Amino acid sequence: MSDREAEQTRPDLTIVSEETPPPSQANDALVLGSAIIAALAGVGFAVGLALRTSITVYGTALAIGLLALGFGIRRYFSDLFPDIEAVEPRHPEQQATEEPVSAIAPLQRRSLLRNALIGASGVFGLSLLSPVPSLGPAPGDALRTTDWRRGTRLVTTDGEPIRADNVASGGVATVWPEGSINNEISAVILVRVGDTEFKDPTNFDWVVNNELVAYSKVCTHAGCPVGLFRETDNALFCPCHQSTFDAVRGAIPTFGPTARALPQLPLGTDAEGFLIALGDFTEQVGPAYG
Ligand code: FES
Repeated sequence: MSDREAEQTRPDLTIVSEETPPPSQANDALVLGSAIIAALAGVGFAVGLALRTSITVYGTALAIGLLALGFGIRRYFSDLFPDIEAVEPRHPEQQATEEPVSAIAPLQRRSLLRNALIGASGVFGLSLLSPVPSLGPAPGDALRTTDWRRGTRLVTTDGEPIRADNVASGGVATVWPEGSINNEISAVILVRVGDTEFKDPTNFDWVVNNELVAYSKVCTHAGCPVGLFRETDNALFCPCHQSTFDAVRGAIPTFGPTARALPQLPLGTDAEGFLIALGDFTEQVGPAYG
């Protein structure tokens, strides 16, 4: 005999307060109805989203589904934990004789109700996955390779190749791989620092004339373009969330939410004095995702 059954057959308990009626077929109907409403609301949410109806429509379906599911679960457990106070007499002669506690909660159709709630939770839970396709395709290796190759010239947005001695001191420029202008994942920010020495973890082999360095322009926090430069302390800024990178120390982050440095582009010059890449980035550009 379960604890529950034992409790129901104890004649020594007296009900002294009963704020809600004991579970009944009406309660079962409420549980069942809530489960059905939750399941229908889940389907309505998924369909509303797929048909691109207004957010009011599928938002309302979502709210109704959550409320119905919560209400159904609450009603389901209400007969396990009834709002009833019962008193057990201290002495045998005080034992109550009026109404046995067996009237508290006969368990009826519990497995049906439980299965209905599980089914409704499953349908509702699956419907919450319906926005997943709208996230678009997975990036795959798109952020692991860019259009930089060994010998690719750096060019301006106008397509002009850049001579190492044509970059103004203390200046920055957004540059692209020749032939791939506006390929955002390949965008690079070229920096010419003043009289400052580069420090670790800068890759010194990729610094030209001890003053020119190039980093990925794609912020390692959430992918915004890094585009601002403060010459006084050689700081690169991302305008989205104020991540700050030290351009003479391998673009390590010095402030803001990002934790990764901007990848450094292997930089060199060709025989004509134009800036070229010595290869692709050796690490992933943009936000790390695994
Ligand atoms: S995207 Fe650059 S700081 Fe957030």
